[in-house]
Amino acid sequence: MFEDEKGAFYYGPFFLHVIKMQVFFVLAGFIHFIKNHTSKGGLCLGKQFVKDLKVGSHVFSQFVVVAHKTLSFSAPSRQGEYFIKLLLGDVSGTIKGIIWNSSMVRMPIRTDEVLLVNGEVEEYNGLQLVINDYSIVEKEKVNRSHFQATCPRDNDEMWRGLLEIVSSAVSNEHLTRLLNIFYNDQDLVKGFRLSPAAKSIHHNYLGGLLEHTLEVVEICEHLIKLYPEEIDRSLLITAAIFHDIGKIEEYNADSFTFEQTDKGKLLGHITIGLEMVRKMIESIPSFPDDLKMKLEHMIISHHGEKEWGSPEVPQTFEAFALFHADLLSARLKQISQLVKKHNGKPSAWTEWDRFLGRRVFTAK
Ligand SMILES: [Fe+2]
Ligand SMILES: [Fe+2]
Repeated sequence: MFEDEKGAFYYGPFFLHVIKMQVFFVLAGFIHFIKNHTSKGGLCLGKQFVKDLKVGSHVFSQFVVVAHKTLSFSAPSRQGEYFIKLLLGDVSGTIKGIIWNSSMVRMPIRTDEVLLVNGEVEEYNGLQLVINDYSIVEKEKVNRSHFQATCPRDNDEMWRGLLEIVSSAVSNEHLTRLLNIFYNDQDLVKGFRLSPAAKSIHHNYLGGLLEHTLEVVEICEHLIKLYPEEIDRSLLITAAIFHDIGKIEEYNADSFTFEQTDKGKLLGHITIGLEMVRKMIESIPSFPDDLKMKLEHMIISHHGEKEWGSPEVPQTFEAFALFHADLLSARLKQISQLVKKHNGKPSAWTEWDRFLGRRVFTAK
């Protein structure tokens, strides 16, 4: 600063210097940001999806913690130190993650939490995201569509389709009353239309339970056409509607990873569903005992085998039909999802699917 002719202090050059320095720092910060947020795919200003990550990608994006494990270093020189292995995910898939430097873990990492991750992708038995830094994202600030898939089919259309089939297929007055109790329970219907059908195996997206139920009902309608004399149409369609209703309480549709609820883990959807249907039947005066027993049998036997979670195997014609319709819907969706995930890859064979216990050949 200088003194001018009138004796006042003149700050001009000093301010100019300060402004120049500020411009320098802003530019340096911008260059640093560009450098750190540029990957082979370009600027990482939006969401970077797992499916697009490659070896060498720099990552600055949100991922949900699907699983995590804290492990100790085995080297004697690093005794007492630990590292964290993670499975991170988004709507497009999952990737392994690793935190070598445990000192950056300021708060315990929890499953279903969304992290804003800064790191690099490397090759280690497949892709692995080495995390240099991370912060926890508040649940309210997360764009749910990045983490929870939604059924591609229109929910209203599926619901209308289901109601149409049921109205023409179910003529038994007791079963009609039971279905009306379900339709009039707004919370139950909302849960039914929103729930996933599974955490990961099939129809694992919002609206998946409705889509799977509609598929099972449609398959049952075909079986009824093949065996009109053997199958009680009202009973089979009603059981198809309710067979997985327990999933509404088995999975937490609010969770980014569709975590199982405590009730779901402890009881499973078969027991929960049985309990829900029993409760509805209790409010119907003079509901026939044998009809109740047959319907309950179909709910508890729909997994087909004791080792697949059914306390009893199917022992009626309708129960057999329901088991196979359920299995067909689940299996075909599993294969369809596996093939879709494989689309665009050079090999004709999909990756190994541990639930199907095989690869699938996709060449046309
Ligand atoms: Fe089931
Ligand atoms: Fe099912």
